Amino acid sequence: MDKEKSIKVLNEAIADELKALHQYMYFHFHCDDKGYDLLADLFKKTAIEEMQHVELLSERILFLGGDVEMVVGEKVEKEKDVAGMLNMAKGMEEKSYEMYNDFARQCSDNNDSASRRLFEQLVDDEERHFDQYDLESDNLNKYGDNYLALQSIERSKTYSAGQPGGGQAGSQ
Ligand SMILES: [Fe+2]
Ligand SMILES: [Fe+2]
Repeated sequence: MDKEKSIKVLNEAIADELKALHQYMYFHFHCDDKGYDLLADLFKKTAIEEMQHVELLSERILFLGGDVEMVVGEKVEKEKDVAGMLNMAKGMEEKSYEMYNDFARQCSDNNDSASRRLFEQLVDDEERHFDQYDLESDNLNKYGDNYLALQSIERSKTYSAGQPGGGQAGSQ
């Protein structure tokens, strides 16, 4: 096994994960600001999973005797339209799982089966992320603005339930 080869692709994967987690947190902030709780939560949960991927990749790099580069590339895309956010997120996930499939093959050729297994595990996660974004994208296409309005109304209901004079909390 050429450890440097594996360390190189593991660090490339970390750069990809960092890009995704910054972009998803940016989407989370804007969805949260507009009251779209379902999407805000999805972006945040996915960002946290990408951070956990950074941790797994880092552990493997240190085990192989390398160092974690933590390269932060370009700035986040300031996409504020929800359809645009979901499209961009789907594109990022697709690019990630295609890249990790390739990295898994490279690690296998390099006789590094633990790194190969790690990349295969990440492929499963990124495909699931793609699926979740795809589902929300379909919902938005199907229900249009009603889909977003429903999310805002849900938040209003939660708020009013927690305030005096409104809902269960106020009646106690
Ligand atoms: Fe990831
Ligand atoms: Fe992902």
